[in-house]
Amino acid sequence: MQQDRELTVGVVAKRCGVKVSTLHFYEEKGLINSWRNSGNQRRYHPEVLRRISIIKAAQKLGVSLESIKQAFAALPNNRTPNKHDWQKLSNQWQQDLNERINYLTNLRDLLTGCIGCGCLSMKHCPMYNPDDVLAQQGSGAVILEQNID
Ligand code: FES
Repeated sequence: MQQDRELTVGVVAKRCGVKVSTLHFYEEKGLINSWRNSGNQRRYHPEVLRRISIIKAAQKLGVSLESIKQAFAALPNNRTPNKHDWQKLSNQWQQDLNERINYLTNLRDLLTGCIGCGCLSMKHCPMYNPDDVLAQQGSGAVILEQNID
């Protein structure tokens, strides 16, 4: 019964917190699918709510729509994806997501100290970047970049 539910574009947009135009955009990009009912109105399967929620979460992490589309390619279009299908997607994204998690964690942890940017404005700068000696190693926040890459 649950899976036979047909959702309107308005219900999907409201439940996912996106504009109707965003749904059309996701459809144009091949990220989600809909069909037309006898009244030629768009209808969605309930699993589209999960897809859109994951698209939004991934975009917040800076994952590109193209990368999301490639990951979604592993999901079946002719039936509701099950745990095994999502596990396949998760495995594909695991490394990318772990790198982003590490990046964000390091960024959070390093922001309170000297990041080697040349400003020499922090208490620890003289210790970690005396006279901006790190400028010889490259441009930008040398310490931050070293710890993140
Ligand atoms: S934070 Fe800029 S040089 Fe230390």
